Amino acid sequence: DQIEKGGYPHFMLKEIFEQPKSIKDSMRGRVNASLGHLQLGGILQYANKLTNAERIIIVACGTSWHAGLVAEYLFEDIARIPVEVEYASEFRYRNPIIREGDVVIAISQSGETADTLAAIELAKSKGAVIFGVCNVVGSSISRASHEGAYLHAGPEIGVASTKAFTAQVSVLAMMAIIVGNKKGTITESQYIALLTELETIPQKVEKALKSNDQIVEIAEQFKDAKNFLYLGRGYNFPVALEGALKLKEISYIHAEGYPAAEMKHGPIALIDAEMPVCVIAPQDNSYEKIVSNIQEVRARKGRVIAVVTEGDTHIKNMAEYTIEVPATHEALMPLLTVIPLQLLSYHIAVMRGCNVDQPRNLAKSVTVE
Ligand code: G6P
Repeated sequence: DQIEKGGYPHFMLKEIFEQPKSIKDSMRGRVNASLGHLQLGGILQYANKLTNAERIIIVACGTSWHAGLVAEYLFEDIARIPVEVEYASEFRYRNPIIREGDVVIAISQSGETADTLAAIELAKSKGAVIFGVCNVVGSSISRASHEGAYLHAGPEIGVASTKAFTAQVSVLAMMAIIVGNKKGTITESQYIALLTELETIPQKVEKALKSNDQIVEIAEQFKDAKNFLYLGRGYNFPVALEGALKLKEISYIHAEGYPAAEMKHGPIALIDAEMPVCVIAPQDNSYEKIVSNIQEVRARKGRVIAVVTEGDTHIKNMAEYTIEVPATHEALMPLLTVIPLQLLSYHIAVMRGCNVDQPRNLAKSVTVE
């Protein structure tokens, strides 16, 4: 057990720190920016189906569903294809509409989640082409899919998913970029810029991990909180959901993720001097908007922990704590902003004496509905 953990006290921490490598592995042999090359070997025969899709329906559960939400932004933004992201458990029981021209992407780390598998079978029976995005090679979902792409992230043991999430986002980004390039919804220079940026992600994740010691100090301040709010906009809204899920799963602190602007329609009522609010606020298109959301939280004495772009001094003056991540392309930012949130939930859970790798009531792979 100790050997398998590679010197880390828990699998979860090992897996968090493995991400520079697991993300690199997810791109290995697939991306080469200097050659302008991007290819997924598992998507061949049905590649045109994906390129010409009129709509993409994504089915998944848990953290994989959050990766699906990031993919919604990616495919709509880069490939201009409308996307619907469905909880597999809801999709399968609601007589979903599947038309000619729709394709389904099923996302699953284990490839064994019962609801996701059933959603695939249903979509197949209605004539849909299924692309599987799985980590476990030869798993049920990978076999039930027509084609797909593996994550190549290596085995994930911790029940709370970390490196699978970033590998999923990496693979889904590659899929969207391939389609965007083929369809011409991005220019050649945008295509090259995205590939170049993709290649830098592993070293930027490495840099983001350097906040670990700072995050231990922040965790110390907030470990006894009863509630947590996570806010993000655009590409980072799904990251807010994922940050909240991580904290709930392993520390048993109640947490909610919200699109930052939606805060005023409910969660703002909860904000007082006791309420930690984790705001994902990189310098992207919604920067000015999220800065004003931070001011709204501050005006109600909420305790702001902000995840910001390296060198941001503006938010530093407003937030109680700021955690920096390197700058990158907006579409790839979730690969960096999720890192401090994984570390924050890990350290809080450890300080609370929780069983981080095997949280109560949860299973790594849910093979019953
Ligand atoms: C369980 C796990 C989660 C995971 C979800 C979906 O709830 O505890 O970590 O995100 O299942 O699993 P999958 O293997 O389909 O990605």
